[in-house]
Amino acid sequence: MSIIIKSAREIACMREAGRIWAKVMEELKLKIGPGMKTEELDHIANEEVTRLDAKPSFKGYRGYPASLCVSVNDEIVHGIPGKRVLEEGDIVSLDFGAIYDGFHADAAVTVGIGEVSPEAARLIAVTEGSLEAGIAAACPGARLGDVSAAIQRYAESGGYSVVREYTGHGIGREMHEEPQVPNFGLSGQGPLLKKGMTLALEPMLNIGDWRTKVGDNQWTVSTSDGNLSAHFEHTIAITDGEPEVLTTL
Ligand code: MF3
Ligand code: CO
Repeated sequence: MSIIIKSAREIACMREAGRIWAKVMEELKLKIGPGMKTEELDHIANEEVTRLDAKPSFKGYRGYPASLCVSVNDEIVHGIPGKRVLEEGDIVSLDFGAIYDGFHADAAVTVGIGEVSPEAARLIAVTEGSLEAGIAAACPGARLGDVSAAIQRYAESGGYSVVREYTGHGIGREMHEEPQVPNFGLSGQGPLLKKGMTLALEPMLNIGDWRTKVGDNQWTVSTSDGNLSAHFEHTIAITDGEPEVLTTL
């Protein structure tokens, strides 16, 4: 297996999947709030993606039971939506994927419920910044390690640890394609980035230790020390110049 280069037509499909992702996320951000059950968010995502003639990427993936991942506070990724009720001050990572015309777009954001602590707000801001630093490094002629190193440098300069056991990934006809995109690494190493590569970059930053644990449901990943975690993700395309973010309106 190797990294699949997409044609302009294929990238146009992914751009449409990404636009649908953004519309679904717009709806979720509009409706999320204290008192809401996490399963209600899954329901909204499902309704919205269906209305937009697309399908959810995650449902049924390796048996995953929902369309959305909702990871609250010390949960990092792969939180299964359910009866949990969101409270003022929680931070919530919403991770969603859409398939349109055979192509996936996958992205995530972390949002605060009402007013959050300054510590939580700063974690969210630095995690988003680390994703932007990774995107800025994803230029043709750079190496994948340059992207990983840019994310890690930004995150650790902010005083946070980077989750090691889960990574970004290539994306296209499959949600997970080559290469894996770690959120830590050495610049100058790894494959060369070329026009037409499509990647999902997804830094997960912890306030405490980078280590993780998986819950009894075999999906939900949390911080091993119970401290807060945040997650941002975009699907991007490598171009001749600046990378293009596909998961946007
Ligand atoms: N953004 C996550 C990923 O890229 C979402 C996968 S969740 C799953 O791996 F439920 F589909 F596994
Ligand atoms: Co992903």
